[in-house]
Amino acid sequence: MGQQTWTGRRWAALGLGLGVGLAVAAGAHTQTVHPALWPAVKPAPLVDVATETRIAALVKRMSIEEKVGQTIQTDISTVTPADLRKYPLGSILAGGDSGPYGDERAKPAEWLRLAREFHAVALEARPGHEPIPIIFGVDAVHGHNNVVGAELFPQNIGLGATRDPELVRRIGEATAEEVATTGIDYAFAPTIAVPQDVRWGRSYEGFSSDPQWVAKFAAAAVLGLQGPNGMEHRLARGRVASSIKHFLGDGGTTLGEDQGNTEVSEETLARLHAPGYAAGIEAGALTVMASYSAWNGQKMHGAKSLLTDVLKDRMGFQGFVIGDYNAHAFLPGCTKEHCPDALNAGVDMYMAPLGWRELYVNLIDDVKAGRISMARLDDAVSRILRVKFALGMFDAERPLAGHFEKLASPEHRALAREAVRKSLVLLKNDGVLPIRANAKVVIGGPHAGSLAVQAGGWTISWQGEDTKSADFPQAELAATAIKAAIRAGGGKMVEESDDLVKDKPDVAIVIIGTRPYAEMFGDIKLPIYNERTGLRALNQFKRMGIPTVTVFLSGRPLWMNPEINASNAFVAAWLPGSEGGGIADVLVGTADSKPRYDFTGRLSFPWPRSALLPPYAPHGATEFPIGFGITYAAPVRTPVLSERLDGSSDVAVPSRVK
Ligand code: BGC
Repeated sequence: MGQQTWTGRRWAALGLGLGVGLAVAAGAHTQTVHPALWPAVKPAPLVDVATETRIAALVKRMSIEEKVGQTIQTDISTVTPADLRKYPLGSILAGGDSGPYGDERAKPAEWLRLAREFHAVALEARPGHEPIPIIFGVDAVHGHNNVVGAELFPQNIGLGATRDPELVRRIGEATAEEVATTGIDYAFAPTIAVPQDVRWGRSYEGFSSDPQWVAKFAAAAVLGLQGPNGMEHRLARGRVASSIKHFLGDGGTTLGEDQGNTEVSEETLARLHAPGYAAGIEAGALTVMASYSAWNGQKMHGAKSLLTDVLKDRMGFQGFVIGDYNAHAFLPGCTKEHCPDALNAGVDMYMAPLGWRELYVNLIDDVKAGRISMARLDDAVSRILRVKFALGMFDAERPLAGHFEKLASPEHRALAREAVRKSLVLLKNDGVLPIRANAKVVIGGPHAGSLAVQAGGWTISWQGEDTKSADFPQAELAATAIKAAIRAGGGKMVEESDDLVKDKPDVAIVIIGTRPYAEMFGDIKLPIYNERTGLRALNQFKRMGIPTVTVFLSGRPLWMNPEINASNAFVAAWLPGSEGGGIADVLVGTADSKPRYDFTGRLSFPWPRSALLPPYAPHGATEFPIGFGITYAAPVRTPVLSERLDGSSDVAVPSRVK
């Protein structure tokens, strides 16, 4: 996709954000907090004493212009390497719809070429210029997902269902390696939101609605991406900086509105939304991304009490706070070109895709006029330099750069496949699973052929809706993998178009899902969710007397009672990414009906009993609680579920908690 369209789409989204910004600004006020209510963290220093001395000396030599430059990150679609000679920026990013030279399907070598061009100009020896490496960030949120041919790991909601933080650490490590091949230093991951209302379009970016699980995964993902705290020359070892995001309360907004307002007490904010940050900081997270959202009307980018008093002072965070994409512009009194308040509140680096030249000029002015103190600027710059030193950027060899054979390598594919296997949650099985390897099988359902639905948002493009199988040649659709497993097991595949009455299959697999989306485009605005995409196919097979297995691809638990009732088995497969083989591994057994792999996935979010979404849903409207998941080893019968939209039932539903 070209730059033109990119800008248009991002701006459309920013327009939506603006609406929220104004609404919140109307009631904005500064909140006081009680740091003692928050987790106190004493992380190990990010760099040693000698490096701190080097940082202080470097800051001393820098001009105001060079310091201000460090505090700005802009998008590769609006800056050229040559611009750095006039504007000595500290960082660049590739936003969700940006690719090198305006091509979001650019080859990996083009990503590396662009990264090298920026690195070279940043390090040029010029009069009045301190050569400081520029840090390049990208949304590597489920693998290096912006880059064609990379491995696509399951989105976080699926990883949460694995309940396996060590697996998440290994995925972080693999992702960092793939990012490093393209010369990029920094992943805007992991998202450690604790989604409380699944109407939120970013629910799938969260590991769980339970803060304690999120904390475990936060630490694991940080360790995987960055390596252990104190590791030297991280880039040389194929590690990158992480960004725990979005601080704070992004998953707690009223009605699940993206970029909305989290209306909770300080105690709830700390208890529900902060544990992941404490764990991530303890693990050495080098950056924290501020949230677009507000807490009781106070936009996070202006919340000094949380960004400075809590995050930096109480939780001991020594890295830098990165703003979110143009988010400073939504503070009361701010524009995208001018916003001293964000820096004063504790944001250290502005993510400024547009208007960054003016922002640079205005920030210099702010410092000269005393609207931003030199001490605050020096602190922000020191934090940015600390991260660059901690990464080993000043002596950066990048031995993995150009090693594109690491992208979707056999090891990474095997790891992703393992993650898919472990992420599957079985909600119903009347005995039809596992499928005999030599069975006669038909595959149907509207999404059996779609990698876009299997991968979800943040894949090639921001919204991920035009992901093609050709973008990820290694990728295997679940349908393709199941066919291969059945053929290998001596079974037979029949086509939906064949005469299924004459040649009756033993089982039908129906693959259904939801269209890909990202951020506010995924918000469910209605109080009710009643999209019934799979019923037609399910009923057709049912009428023919063919037992059915539904594979549900989705970024959140949704009311599926009609589909669950119409299926003999129902599997929540989340957004598994490129390794559909993991689904075949668990669904297709041996020729004598023994499982090859059991289900080990458990719900990391409660599954709704009613089509009415909170707060309209009746109290306690949970069909399957957190932790639920049936296994082959201990089968559980799922009764007929209520199909009334409000979840009411005359039949007492037995508890299915194990
Ligand atoms: C999102 C961030 C993301 C950034 C850069 C923003 O819109 O909220 O999560 O890292 O864009 O693409």
